[in-house]
Amino acid sequence: MKKIALLGHGVVGSGVMEILTKNRKLLARQAGEGVEAAWVLDRRAFPGLPYSQRFTQDFSAIREDPEVAVVLEALGGVEPAYTWARESLLAGKSVITSNKELVAEKGDELLALAAEKGVHFLFEASVGGGIPILQPLRESLTANHILEIAGILNGTTNFILTKMFREGAAFGDALREAQELGYAEADPTADVEGHDACRKICILASIAFGSHFYPREVRTQGITRISPEDVAYAARWGGAIKLIGRARRAPDGRAALEVSPMFVPGDCLLSGVNGVYNAVQVTGDMVGTTLFYGPGAGKLPTASAMVGDLITALTQPAGSRPLPWGPAKPELSQPWEEHTAQAFLRVTGMEPDALETFFPGARFLEPLAEGEAAFITAPATQGELDAAQEAAGAAGGKVLSRITVLEGSR
Ligand code: HSE
Repeated sequence: MKKIALLGHGVVGSGVMEILTKNRKLLARQAGEGVEAAWVLDRRAFPGLPYSQRFTQDFSAIREDPEVAVVLEALGGVEPAYTWARESLLAGKSVITSNKELVAEKGDELLALAAEKGVHFLFEASVGGGIPILQPLRESLTANHILEIAGILNGTTNFILTKMFREGAAFGDALREAQELGYAEADPTADVEGHDACRKICILASIAFGSHFYPREVRTQGITRISPEDVAYAARWGGAIKLIGRARRAPDGRAALEVSPMFVPGDCLLSGVNGVYNAVQVTGDMVGTTLFYGPGAGKLPTASAMVGDLITALTQPAGSRPLPWGPAKPELSQPWEEHTAQAFLRVTGMEPDALETFFPGARFLEPLAEGEAAFITAPATQGELDAAQEAAGAAGGKVLSRITVLEGSR
């Protein structure tokens, strides 16, 4: 019998236990012998479960148990997850985590430590819930220079946007439902302000580009300022608004990362991703554009990814294909002001002719309200768009919205 320990019996942790129980025979076949949680660490007691007697609040019992080969961490947050992941690795145990905050902050360090100790540090569940994306990126796409990753990386916000703009739900009601379904973070600000998506694009970029990207260095904007009018204009333009995490290779080789709501054209498959589903579009120089799609949050999808990693850790030698994920190289990041973009703008107090002097090449949409102009800019840097916006503002134009366009096949 292979013994493992689970840290955290919340939404995801209890999902891991459910899979270990329900798919016990299948997992025993995959692992070559039965797999059992010897310990479950949680501050709370869970009486009445078949495994209630395995709960502990003492991490040292897990660290000191020589029979435990793998620790699954589903606590969330950097501490105490970081300390316990580190101590587990130092004790020669593999670590599997669903914790994006931990990986985005400490991924390079924990990977290096796992390599030094000859064990696994795996985190498929940290991005895209149940979608297999990290394994394909690190294995199946290695023949490519990755040119761009663009994805809907947060299930909660995609669920909220879908509920609000397809079903007319209020923001608070849609968020509450996402919380009840177990999609949202403990503090849902991380979802709605884009921080969760930011952690995930940093993890993807670190794997794709080979050096650590920190969330604090990435310009991040959430969904709280999107208005029904903006959504109506996106539909009129022929697309939808989605919260997108994007990492691109700029022509000079630097990496350009950002998280923000974007106008996604209708002929881009990301525009049709709804509800709690996530999708990650990866473009490589040889393969072209690929798309990974599936449930981006929730108990069993996320636990499915963790248990998949668990079987890998139990059956594959560690270190045979180390991740090319080194320390951060800030000089290889392109500042947001230098990113090339097109943007949607909604302006009052200025006629299209005057606006065109500030935004040459603007393509105007039919306005939805009197006295309002809406247009898509020609490509420019975000810094140039800032300057044009400021100049138009000084001349009396009031910018109500500015939303970046995800360049697609149109
Ligand atoms: N809060 C996250 C989301 C959970 O909504 O996507 C999955 O990482």
